[in-house]
Amino acid sequence: MEKKNEITGQFVERMQRSIESGSFIKLTLSKPGGKDKDFKNVYARLIDLKGEEVLSFTLHYTTRDEVKNHPIAEALAMVGLWLGADFLNGDLFTLEEDVSIQFSKKRKARLFSRAASLREQPSKKHNRQKQYLIEPENNPYLYAMGIASAQGKILAAGQAKYRQINKYIEIIDSLLQQHPLRKNPHIVDMGSGKGYLTFALYDHLANGLGLLPTITGIELRQKLVDFCNELAKEAGYSELSFLAKDIHDFQPERIDMLIALHACDIATDIAIAKGVQSGAEIIIVAPCCHKQVRKQMACHTGMQAILRHGILEERQAELITDGIRSLLMEANGYQTKVFEFISTEHTAKNLMIVGTKGKKNEEAVEQVETIKKDYGIEYHYLERLLQG
Ligand SMILES: C[S@@+](CC[C@H](N)C(=O)[O-])C[C@H]1O[C@@H](n2cnc3c(N)ncnc32)[C@H](O)[C@@H]1O
Repeated sequence: MEKKNEITGQFVERMQRSIESGSFIKLTLSKPGGKDKDFKNVYARLIDLKGEEVLSFTLHYTTRDEVKNHPIAEALAMVGLWLGADFLNGDLFTLEEDVSIQFSKKRKARLFSRAASLREQPSKKHNRQKQYLIEPENNPYLYAMGIASAQGKILAAGQAKYRQINKYIEIIDSLLQQHPLRKNPHIVDMGSGKGYLTFALYDHLANGLGLLPTITGIELRQKLVDFCNELAKEAGYSELSFLAKDIHDFQPERIDMLIALHACDIATDIAIAKGVQSGAEIIIVAPCCHKQVRKQMACHTGMQAILRHGILEERQAELITDGIRSLLMEANGYQTKVFEFISTEHTAKNLMIVGTKGKKNEEAVEQVETIKKDYGIEYHYLERLLQG
């Protein structure tokens, strides 16, 4: 332990010296070794924040990134704590040398350095341009949807939508790294609307990752379906098509990944059920309104005193509806994650439920029963769909 701390101390000291001498380029911490399996890696760079030089950490988790800025001394202490605990690799890049620290499974540390591999320091600007997975250039669909100009520049009115599309693609990209799909996957987007996300997904999977996907968008509104089919043809997206159909009536041969973003009320349940019943490897839903459960709610616990306020009852109905969705997916052999996929400044409907095929949660059915009893709920629509 003594040795580990000593070597970690040397690494942190070299990092501190490089910051003080102005030769620091960046730091990465990788190879997760801690309890939080979702905490994947950390990237650090120096930025100027209101005239003060601070270290900006980007913490990469499985489904999200967090940016945290810290004064230098505090940041160095954090690096010391992360190393050998949360991360087993540390790589420091400076203008003079590259320094690495590596920990064995038994947390034995090794430090080594080599000639500098990088010559340029990143900009210290606070809000530097983010690299997006969806390129604005050469994307006819972004232009047709009013997000980019004909020259491929993101329009002011399209900025929020563009960020939302990219966030969504980043989440799917990261999911696919952990749960790769078979070759030529069939992906179904239920309630595809104007197709913003469906086109971006096809673009990324086909052109970015070379996965040869077939993507089908299902949408009730014929006008939107015609618009999307026309645009897919213009863009040369040969395996992207849209059907004007109620998702309830859609009988797919095979679904490898099921997506339903902001499909209204029980349309989310129908989509989840279709995904489960066709054995989809991945199910991704971002629920919209939550009427079905709320109408039945008559709480029998102490929570009743709180739920007399309409807004709190509404929020609780959302929580219960989506919580039960996730439990029912688990009861059917999916591992689930529930998280906010985009900040509330873009949309209040920002909860995402992701299910990936895995181990069944044997307790889930009983857990659902307890919640239903507490809240006087007769049934959850998804339950009926999965039983029938
Ligand atoms: C709020 S929009 C979301 C569109 C798109 N998924 C997005 O996130 O940008 C919901 C769409 O789902 C469609 N929809 C709702 N219920 C449906 C159903 N039962 N079958 C097919 N489409 C449905 C609506 O027509 C609407 O276009």
